[in-house]
Amino acid sequence: MSQPKILIIDDSPFFRSQIENELKSINGSFSHAEDGRKGLDMALLDSYDLIISDIEMPNMDGFALCSKLKVNPNTISIPVILISSNDTDKYIDKGFKVGADSYIIKTDLKTKLLDTTLEVLKKSKFHNNNRILVVDDSSTIRSIVKDAFEKAGFHVTTAENGKMALKKINEDPPDLILSDIDMPEMSGIELCNKVRMESAFKAIPFVIMSANDNRATMRQLLERGVSAYLVKPFNMEQMVITIEKLLSDQYLILLKEKERLDSERQFMLSGITSLITALEARDHYTCGHSQAVAAIVEKMAVKMGMSIEDVESVSIAGKLHDIGKIGVPDNILLKPGRLTDEEFNLVKEHPLVGVNILGNIASLAKIIPAIRHHHERFDGKGYPDGIKGSSIPIWARIMAVADTYHALTSDRPYRDGMPLQKAMDIILTAKGTQLCPDSVDIFVELISEISPKNLIA
Ligand SMILES: [Fe+2]
Repeated sequence: MSQPKILIIDDSPFFRSQIENELKSINGSFSHAEDGRKGLDMALLDSYDLIISDIEMPNMDGFALCSKLKVNPNTISIPVILISSNDTDKYIDKGFKVGADSYIIKTDLKTKLLDTTLEVLKKSKFHNNNRILVVDDSSTIRSIVKDAFEKAGFHVTTAENGKMALKKINEDPPDLILSDIDMPEMSGIELCNKVRMESAFKAIPFVIMSANDNRATMRQLLERGVSAYLVKPFNMEQMVITIEKLLSDQYLILLKEKERLDSERQFMLSGITSLITALEARDHYTCGHSQAVAAIVEKMAVKMGMSIEDVESVSIAGKLHDIGKIGVPDNILLKPGRLTDEEFNLVKEHPLVGVNILGNIASLAKIIPAIRHHHERFDGKGYPDGIKGSSIPIWARIMAVADTYHALTSDRPYRDGMPLQKAMDIILTAKGTQLCPDSVDIFVELISEISPKNLIA
């Protein structure tokens, strides 16, 4: 939440500004109301991330305000912190009964308000991001459970049997499924089996609620992948707490898995970058070539509207496209003059050598075709496979344009780099024969918008 919108309700302007002052470090936008009635009107007209309200006020007190907020679907999910100088258990208990998320005694304002506010905002963001699907054939249970979760700030959808639930899961997968066992059409157990069989849904926590408290049944279901088993009749507050715990555990698991994958990928990429550096250290004339090709294809991919993941992969492919040159002997790779046919045949093996080097790295599977085919020609006269036109993967086709451009414009052992215009003339002449026409068009557009220096940066 970048800038939380907070409504402060108190009949004392002094307390309102004291509250705002205590919270200035959270960089929120604050509105004020002087009693419950005005506060309620404002909450109905605008959307707030949090309401902090005094209890003792004229017109409408904090208890009445909170009850009204928590029965209105438009305001039900706004968290409420009640503040009062009354610290009796009875009073505090009443605050929670009317749906407050937290209760602070006025004398504790300085020590507790900031931490409590941050905690409540964090929790509400967590709830708002989590959607629960409640499946039960009893409309009464559906509405009681829905109500309890909505009051806690979750988004809730319902279904009256497993079959309908499955349809909803396919359309818009929830973050957690809470299901009865005995239902017509499809039981909760069948639903759980079906959800667990789909790889896209099998990680969704599945909670069973049932009147059956047979331990053997419970154990069996937990072994089949049910995340928790709640016995009816249940205490709604406990139920909400159990679900919150399940979701936050699930969130932590997903977060850890993402961190593990990110660091594995980072580790692999730094290893590969070392390989490229080793290759380019051998041949200082092409030093920086892979980096430049990567920078160009990345910009072309962005222009083509590729997803962030694909743009990143294309850029990695650019960095690695010539890795197979590691297998080309020094006397050929560094030869200043023209290559003999035999020598050229050896150089032509580098795309396949590259595939052999990288082919076993699972996370690079997507870029292997681009490495293999970056020397194919649009007219089919390229290597290693001589495929043509759209049979050449698009990543390889854009790479061929970037590779050609950079090879022409950079200095070689036997000649200086060409000026931009001359290189562009050659690229346009090769359009449709050596190079893919669409990829050339994208490149021409790119070069009209960006300086050659920034193109390879
Ligand atoms: Fe190459």
